[in-house]
Amino acid sequence: MIQQTLVLIKPDSIARGLIGEIIKRFEQRGLKIVGLKMIKPNKNLAEKHYTETITKKHGKHVRDSLLNYLTSSPVIAIAVQGSNAVELVRKITGSTFPGEADIGTIRGDFAHVSKFYMKDKNKPDNLIHASENKEDAKKELALWFSLDEIQDYKLAAETFIF
Ligand code: PPS
Repeated sequence: MIQQTLVLIKPDSIARGLIGEIIKRFEQRGLKIVGLKMIKPNKNLAEKHYTETITKKHGKHVRDSLLNYLTSSPVIAIAVQGSNAVELVRKITGSTFPGEADIGTIRGDFAHVSKFYMKDKNKPDNLIHASENKEDAKKELALWFSLDEIQDYKLAAETFIF
């Protein structure tokens, strides 16, 4: 099932010079980058991305810190396409808290901070965002990209299966 999903390379990754390393992880798996841009989100965009659902799930302090964080510095928004892309991109990303993320995932390979430390410090810098499910992916892609910013082309992987 061909799907599209949203990835945000967050400010901490950009500050650490990890843009290429992160994009490589998706490309090497055969996923197709169909949209890509650097953008400094304003408050309105950040609030539409990190909705009140986060307040309900994690509390106001978590949403507030995510909003401050997302508007603090540019991020890279990427539309990623491929077979079962939503789940696959989450798998490549790893668990929310890097200390719990498997080695081999982006969060597991480039950070080690524990859940307790992240919660205690209220610091949301876990490298990237990846849409949680198909519904979120659809909403988030529409929020970050206009239709004419999503491109169509053929990857070698579509001719030669790997
Ligand atoms: S997810 O996508 O499975 O991680 O979703 P969820 O658990 O609902 O978390 C939503 C976003 O909140 C971030 N988060 C936190 N940030 C800072 N501190 C704490 N304690 C915390 N708990 C959750 C989490 O990373 C999600 O943001 P993104 O940008 O999607 O990673």
